[in-house]
Amino acid sequence: MQMPDFRSAEWQEAATDEGIAAVIERGRGMMPAFGDRVPEQGIRALVTHVRTLRAAAAPAASTAPAPTTPAPAPASPEPAAPTE
Ligand code: HEM
Repeated sequence: MQMPDFRSAEWQEAATDEGIAAVIERGRGMMPAFGDRVPEQGIRALVTHVRTLRAAAAPAASTAPAPTTPAPAPASPEPAAPTE
């Protein structure tokens, strides 16, 4: 069973809100339909939720590969160059 990686910027940019809502409502392949159990407002909330799963810290306009985690803050100053 193959599921989309909702963290991926590529998937998030290719997916439309309408398309995500349609899959949640009607199902697709192994994905069950939720349209008979979840009202329209709930479907919209799930679309918003799926959008929140995108990995943090990818600048939208960047052509560089998106980092999957934010750059770590330096924990300590650079080590001093050896003195002798
Ligand atoms: C409220 C719960 C769920 C939400 C919000 C949700 C949402 C989604 C979304 C947005 C997609 C993307 C389809 C696409 O455009 O590529 C998807 C696909 C998929 N989901 Fe779910 N899902 C839910 C529950 C489940 C469950 C319970 C299962 C497994 C039993 C499941 C299995 C799958 C599979 C296998 C796909 C890939 C479908 C395909 O492309 O053939 N999902 N889901």
